[in-house]
Amino acid sequence: MKGSLLLVATLFLCATLPSTALADSASRDQAEIDRGRYLVKMSGCNDCHTAGYMPSEGTVPESQWLMGDTLGWQGPWGTTYAINLRLYASEMSEDEWVSVVKTMKARPPMPWWVLNEMEEPDVRALYAYIRSLPVAGAPAPAALEPGVTPKTAYFQMVMPEE
Ligand code: HEC
Repeated sequence: MKGSLLLVATLFLCATLPSTALADSASRDQAEIDRGRYLVKMSGCNDCHTAGYMPSEGTVPESQWLMGDTLGWQGPWGTTYAINLRLYASEMSEDEWVSVVKTMKARPPMPWWVLNEMEEPDVRALYAYIRSLPVAGAPAPAALEPGVTPKTAYFQMVMPEE
């Protein structure tokens, strides 16, 4: 009697565990993606990495987020362009993303020091969110050396005369 109860219990567990585990991991994934979307909004990634986001006061539809921008940022460092994060993240594993984000240093106006300090679960949530978006858009223009005039629209940082 004990033996057969145990058997029934085991069969029951085998039948229910895998689907419960799957449901858990699916909802955890969705929660992580939602957290990543929130972090992207709150830490301002869209302001530079989504074309038109700042001028439209944040009303660009999510389908167009994080595909980089052709708007240049010019200063003593030359001219930089916020990259297409969907393409960028699609070319690396989650662990590579974590190590890049935790150690990267980029030119202005990328606030890389903030990302270096982001806690790992949040960095992973960013990855989960970015990878949940379709890989789309073109690569941003390549950065230009100081003294080269961009062919795109650009912001310019003007230093005062000494
Ligand atoms: C104020 C504008 C601005 C904001 C805000 C911003 N970025 Fe950037 N980001 C840039 C620019 C410009 C570059 C290109 C820098 C370069 O060419 O050196 C860049 C580059 C990057 C790179 C590539 C770095 C490398 O080593 O090649 C990553 C990854 C990145 N940004 C992620 C993010 C994420 C994630 C956020 C939000 C947390 C964010 N950025 C917010 C402007 C910005």
